[in-house]
Amino acid sequence: MLESQKVRIPPLKIQGIKTKIVPYIQEVFKTLDVGVYYEPFMGSGVVGLNLMPKVAVFSDNNPHIINFYNAIKEGTLTEDSVRAFLIQEGQELEQEGQAHYLKIRQRFNKNQDSHDFLFLNRSCFNGLMRFNSRGDFNVPYCKKDRRFAPAYITKITNQVKWVSERIAQNDYTFLCCNFMQIFKQAQKGDLIYCDPPYIGRHADYFSLWSPKYEETLYDLLEHTQASFLLSTWHSNTYRTNPYLHRYQEHQIELLDHFYHLGGKEKNRNAIKEALVQDFKNS
Ligand SMILES: C[S@@+](CC[C@H](N)C(=O)[O-])C[C@H]1O[C@@H](n2cnc3c(N)ncnc32)[C@H](O)[C@@H]1O
Repeated sequence: MLESQKVRIPPLKIQGIKTKIVPYIQEVFKTLDVGVYYEPFMGSGVVGLNLMPKVAVFSDNNPHIINFYNAIKEGTLTEDSVRAFLIQEGQELEQEGQAHYLKIRQRFNKNQDSHDFLFLNRSCFNGLMRFNSRGDFNVPYCKKDRRFAPAYITKITNQVKWVSERIAQNDYTFLCCNFMQIFKQAQKGDLIYCDPPYIGRHADYFSLWSPKYEETLYDLLEHTQASFLLSTWHSNTYRTNPYLHRYQEHQIELLDHFYHLGGKEKNRNAIKEALVQDFKNS
């Protein structure tokens, strides 16, 4: 693993965030001449936003993530709007505690507003992003009534500012779609970075990942004209990824990564990450 470079963190938190492997991908990215950068499992967006390609299509099947980024792009969610919102709602949280958190959660599940989504994402238990079978956000409260202290609000607004600058400086599209859609668009000279959920690890409404999806992704990667990078897990203390042998023709880099698996400490295992690489000459 490379020495840590300055990696910026976007405003949304998500389990499995790839902050730690960004420096490695940045080094690889610098050596490539990329047409369009595609990230079909964008999650927090930490990878692509740090790589800062000129033209990119970020997508995810979670509409709330995509709405959030489109709200920044369209200017309906800004550094200023977030500051005002978090000051107001943060004060109410301080007074009413969990009751206020649950009020916002109910409101979000009805109206799906991106400011509410950010509030929940930054005050829920362990920064989890999880939805039930109806697609409702269902993570409990972090139980810190003074969550939105001034320094924390400043941290979040700086993150929003950073993302809005990145979007303004470049040509970025945010799409809510299944990963398969992206493979119809990507062409020779483009780069696709894939970070799918790990089979059997994420299990929420938007992150259901099955062996069938894994097979489909493998087939699409095998046939795409675009170059690609695939993040997947290599092994943990107990087992090795049974799908990895499918990529044995490719260069596979092993990286140590602490994967944040769940709320309970005992469920958190150090996972060895694999980065499968396929760079085609453009
Ligand atoms: C492991 S997370 C990506 C994390 C991201 N690389 C980061 O660093 O923040 C996987 C993402 O894939 C999305 N996803 C799950 N199934 C999908 C599908 N079938 N099509 C598109 N996106 C999907 C989830 O909503 C989630 O945001």
